[in-house]
Amino acid sequence: MNALRSWPEFQATLRLPLMLAPMAGGTGTPTLAAAVSEAGGLGSLGATYLTPTQIGAAMAAVRARTDRPFAVNLFAPQPLPPVTPAEVEVACAELAPFHAALRLPPPTLPPQVQEDFGAQLNAVLSDPPAVFSFTFGRLPPAALGALHAAGVLVVGTATSLREARQLAQDGVDAVTVQGGAAGGHRGGWQEDALADTLTLARQVAQDTGLPVVAAGGLMTAGDVRAALQAGAALAACGTAFLLADEAGTSTPYRRAVQEGTRDTVLTRAYSGRAARGLQTTLTGGVHSPLPFPWQNALTRSLRVAGAQAGHADLLSLWAGEGYRQARTAGAAQIVADLTP
Ligand SMILES: Cc1cc2nc3c(=O)[nH]c(=O)nc-3n(C[C@H](O)[C@H](O)[C@H](O)COP(=O)(O)O)c2cc1C
Repeated sequence: MNALRSWPEFQATLRLPLMLAPMAGGTGTPTLAAAVSEAGGLGSLGATYLTPTQIGAAMAAVRARTDRPFAVNLFAPQPLPPVTPAEVEVACAELAPFHAALRLPPPTLPPQVQEDFGAQLNAVLSDPPAVFSFTFGRLPPAALGALHAAGVLVVGTATSLREARQLAQDGVDAVTVQGGAAGGHRGGWQEDALADTLTLARQVAQDTGLPVVAAGGLMTAGDVRAALQAGAALAACGTAFLLADEAGTSTPYRRAVQEGTRDTVLTRAYSGRAARGLQTTLTGGVHSPLPFPWQNALTRSLRVAGAQAGHADLLSLWAGEGYRQARTAGAAQIVADLTP
């Protein structure tokens, strides 16, 4: 249990105004989070696809490498959207040829399509990190209260001023503003205008008075400086760390990022929720995905098999618009390169 501090008091303990953006799905490893925290930034664990036991192990793995503060990120819990058998059939039929090409059994939905948020949060609270961040919506008041009671600073994600105001009303300690250039899932829950990161950071900082974490397209020290000048308290970078030695980015994914030949697209093909990633055969070949998290569960076996077979075209290659500027290096070097 920590004593709850204000965000400015917390931020004064960081050496750099830089955060590793949370990246779930294997890319953001405990080693990467620890390396960024050790280098003076705020490391993050994207824990949303981890079981409660795995979350405990991942937090322990960070703590084994650093005693600096870090953040843990989960998706805000949503009611499971209804899907009809006919919709499932269509979604399975679209994926069937990809399964056949890899000699996998036809696609089917697994019995469990997402982790239990309450159990995940309990795992986080069992040895609380300095910061908890969430995306995809608003946090239940009881969850926010439990985090604050445990001395954890809470950061929500907004893609518009309207969403940021709602998070401010809910009592978060800081807001991540996610601009349209960002890699990975769109974090908003209302209309998403794919805002310019700096413009949104400026608006939200002025309007809400909350500390702002700017995310989306920040690839250089100059980008970070511009975000801070726009009023952000921290700059969060995800894509800039895709090629970090400590990242869990798979070999075919790394190769696709390094080649730099693909454009980024917003796609629902992999998870049912809009996310920015590199164009693949699947982003062009899936037109009727199930809503999140159903599609995410439905495509999992294909993604796992695709990674094993080295087929980048079957993988969700989440990457932001600035991905061609990502550098292959150790995380400490990338942090140094991003420091204004
Ligand atoms: C591979 C990958 C996975 C991501 N996973 C998450 C996640 O689990 N939770 C989250 O809030 N954001 C997630 N994001 C979004 C990032 O936290 C952040 O908004 C984005 O990386 C910032 O833009 P940039 O990629 O241009 O740096 C992910 C982004 C990437 C590239």
